[in-house]
Parts: sequence; C-alpha cells; structure tokens
Amino acid sequence: MNKFVEVLPDLTALVERSRQIVVEKLREAIAKRGMATIALAGGSTPKPLYEKLSGESLPWDKVHIFWGDERYVPPDHPDSNQRMARLAWLDQVAIPSRNLHPMPTDDADPAIAAQKHAAELQEFFHTQSGEFPSLDMILLGIGDDAHTASLFPHTEALQVCDRLVTVGNKDGQPRITFTIPLINQARTVLFMVAGANKQAALAQIFAPVADGNTYPARFIRPQGELWWLLDQPAGENLTET
Ligand code: 6PG
Repeated sequence: MNKFVEVLPDLTALVERSRQIVVEKLREAIAKRGMATIALAGGSTPKPLYEKLSGESLPWDKVHIFWGDERYVPPDHPDSNQRMARLAWLDQVAIPSRNLHPMPTDDADPAIAAQKHAAELQEFFHTQSGEFPSLDMILLGIGDDAHTASLFPHTEALQVCDRLVTVGNKDGQPRITFTIPLINQARTVLFMVAGANKQAALAQIFAPVADGNTYPARFIRPQGELWWLLDQPAGENLTET
C-alpha cells in the first residue's frame, strides 16, 4: 500500500484536488485496460466533486460507475446515494445506462439485495466465488464516528470477509455496503474528509494503535494506493499520518 495524505486549505481546494486525482486515475485505467471502474461515496462531501466531474470531457462509454454503499431506500428517495450522484453528475454526461451499476434496494430483504449485487459484481469482473475484484478507484468519506461506506462501529458488517457486499446497519437502519476485503482490493482508494467535526475521528484513524471495530476506517488498507484528502479544519491538528 502506498499512502498519500494531503491537507488542502478549504473544501474548494479539496474538491479540485480530488477532481485532478479522479480524472488522472480514470484516464490511466482506460489507457491501460480499455475501461475504468469507480465506486462512488455517498453523503455530502463528494457532491461538489460530482458536479465538477459533470463538466469533464472523458470517454464516458468506457467508465463504469458503482457505489460503495447505499441507503436502503428507493432510487428516487432524497437519501439515495444513487439519486445524488445522478442529479449532480451522471444525468449530465453521455454515460450509457448499462455503465451504471447501482446497488439494488427493492428487495424486501436487504441481505438478498446484497447477494444480488455481489453476483452482479462477480459477473461484471469475471471473478469466482471467494475472489475479490479490483476496482480502479473507490471514493470514500468518514463519519464523525470514523465509519466509512456503511461500515459502522461494532456492526456485523465489519466481520464479513468472505463476501463482496453485505448489509450495513446505521442505528437500526439497513444499508448495503462493499465489504472491507472488497474495498482493500482496489487499485486506488480516495478519502475526501472536510470539517472540524471529523478531527477526532481522523486522530483515531491515524493513531498508531486504536480499535478498528470502534473506528472502522482503520480497516481500509488497500493493496494499491490510499489517498487521504483533508481540508484544513479536518486535518490541521493531525500529528500522525
Ligand atoms: C453515506 C456514505 C458515508 C459518508 C460519510 C461522510 O452513505 O452516507 O457513504 O459513509 O461518506 O457518512 O458523509 P459526509 O460526506 O456527509 O460527511
């Protein structure tokens, strides 16, 4: 794992730096393998990045979009990560609908939805059961509790090591989420973290010793590159990197 940590003056600079890295990695993947695969983060931080990406002139027919996690709501629900990315970016560019691979949230049982999505990933990446595919890029954020994707502290999802996708649990609300081993198989993981309210979580995530079950983002150690892009309010007091 190659780890890079950059503290940017503000959110605007963080978003621009994220855009640079995302575009570079997508272009690199397309040049090397003829296509690029990227999983999107939800929440509020990445939305301005997605808005910027809607203005990029990339060969969108060679870009495949996944989501690292999803709230268990219909795709038109205000809380939907899929909806946020479509409105901010994907509906604004000429990306074929077959290139969008949202997490299903229409089954009565979220566990069935997770299994279906895992099967879709295995088919897309031509992997066998028990094998973890490498996405080119996975975008992530952290909560002020140091969760990432929908891998929340002290939940069962943190223990899942034999599947690509599982059910997350946020205060009793079901989520669908990539598992830790799937995220760690990525070629590049990029965390975008903004706001002073994330300082305490970052200190624990970067601490030499702390409990990953309490601070789940600690478990993210990709085989490729790990990028942390922090704005000043989030990263200014970070001593360990
Ligand atoms: C989600 C995200 C989640 C998010 C963090 C940070 O579905 O909400 O995947 O993991 O990245 O909660 O959210 P903010 O960017 O809104 O702080």
